Amino acid sequence: MMRLLVNIDHVATIRNARGEGFPDPVEASEVCERAGAAGIVFHLRGDRRHIRDDDVYRLKDSVTGLLDFEMAASDEMIEICLDIKPELVTLVPEGREELTTEGGLNMEKVYKDYEERVFPAFKQSGIDISLFLDPNPKDIELAHKLGADAVELHTGTFANSINKEDQLTELKRLGKAAGMIHEAGMTVNAGHGLNLDNLPLLIKHVPHLADISIGHALISKSIFWGLEKTVKEYLKIMN
Ligand code: PXP
Repeated sequence: MMRLLVNIDHVATIRNARGEGFPDPVEASEVCERAGAAGIVFHLRGDRRHIRDDDVYRLKDSVTGLLDFEMAASDEMIEICLDIKPELVTLVPEGREELTTEGGLNMEKVYKDYEERVFPAFKQSGIDISLFLDPNPKDIELAHKLGADAVELHTGTFANSINKEDQLTELKRLGKAAGMIHEAGMTVNAGHGLNLDNLPLLIKHVPHLADISIGHALISKSIFWGLEKTVKEYLKIMN
């Protein structure tokens, strides 16, 4: 079943702009869940540019649905994540200069480290591991070999494509990748750059979608519509 997870990072971005205590990402998460979101995602970055450590602990206490801890697999983050024990951790690449996550993990590059350090650290924690990947068969194979529970497909290339042809090409790649992830017994999640206009296309072309993670466009629209109405509009599309 397809579910909406709302990424509340940018509520914290607005809060941090003035150094005040508002708007509070925890209050935002409560509104999202009340409106029907199945869960909440946050990305605790090494530079703490939006979500901060105390937000993470408050979200753990407050969120009643699925909590997805998005992070780079540094020792520091793994330690915090094991303390928080969310249902799901989504591992992403993280660059200091990037405005947002710019692509999926390069599995060939991280495989050995993930096999020796990262996956063993999560073993027996009860936390499911999702890997954020571009729709590349080789990356998906390696995710399966590592024992990942889920793959979050990076939909940013699809979302940013400027002509119909490129968009359709990327949708085909995403559709094939989703089939492969599903066949391998992993859950198919998706996210990045999704909005009310492109989400229907993704749903039409990509099978087996489970958790859809949406942040920037949803939080932005909520400035005009309110958070509750915006979440409900996304849910209408998904249902
Ligand atoms: N999924 C992952 C792994 C991400 O890094 C992000 C951005 O934080 C999202 C989903 C949400 O992307 P957006 O903010 O563009 O909706």
